[in-house]
Amino acid sequence: MGRRDEYERFDREIEAMGVRVKDADQVKVRDDVFDEVTLVALYRLVHKKLISVIGGPVSTGKEANIYYGEHDGRGLAIKIYRIQTANFRAMTDYLAGDRRFSSIRGSRKGIIFAWTKKEYSNLARARDAGVPVPEPLAFDRNILLMEFLGEEEAPYPQLRLAEVDDYDAAYRDVLDYMKRLYQDARLVHADLSEYNILYHEKPYLIDMGQAVTLDHPRALAFLIRDIKNINRYFSRYCDVLDEQEIARTITGIERREP
Ligand SMILES: Nc1ncnc2c1ncn2[C@@H]1O[C@H](COP(=O)(O)OP(=O)(O)O)[C@@H](O)[C@H]1O
Ligand SMILES: [Mg+2]
Repeated sequence: MGRRDEYERFDREIEAMGVRVKDADQVKVRDDVFDEVTLVALYRLVHKKLISVIGGPVSTGKEANIYYGEHDGRGLAIKIYRIQTANFRAMTDYLAGDRRFSSIRGSRKGIIFAWTKKEYSNLARARDAGVPVPEPLAFDRNILLMEFLGEEEAPYPQLRLAEVDDYDAAYRDVLDYMKRLYQDARLVHADLSEYNILYHEKPYLIDMGQAVTLDHPRALAFLIRDIKNINRYFSRYCDVLDEQEIARTITGIERREP
């Protein structure tokens, strides 16, 4: 059976399960994403009644594609990690140093499933610590379902593209989120930048697959890198604090004088 026939069959079967498939002509974008494993995971989520509408693509990134969806009238972000093209070597390093996942090794698929679960669990910890992130709803294999941050199928803009009234306030918010992540969630985001922050009235942190626990050997190095990125971005718009001072405030660790 050709790929296109397969998608049509998939759409019919999904629709038979009561799910509306919007933009069914997005076959091209689906091509490298909807492999066998992904279809099975999607069926399972649909079968559990966690998805009632599957919409068009919101973003096509390096490792994952994000689709719009709905459940009970609420918007969903359906994040699908690509099994074939994801950079699973880099993923392995982030997983190995994190005690929650250090026993994970082996196949490409296994790594990507662990990564998906890790992002789910990181979002849940961040949310428990009061950090504005999309609410994680479910995961299965390489698919993560989370709250959609946006309006009418359009995501809130990334910080780099957003209109921000008060950069000082946004900067303080982001530093506060980093501190709560560190002190309460015991996590470092590890890929924080104007790309992984959405903005609508306030900043929201997203994209937490690579976030690591504090016992990761590079946690502190990742934190410093995050601080540098945030300072680099905000220094164009407002005064920023000294890096070392931020690191001290976030970690509570005093640096000894050299
Ligand atoms: N929960 C969400 N709600 C709305 N849009 C989202 C959500 N998560 C991701 N997006 C959209 O997808 C883009 C990429 O998401 P991200 O998690 O950063 O994936 P990537 O690994 O591809 O960088 C975001 O910039 C945003 O436009
Ligand atoms: Mg991203």
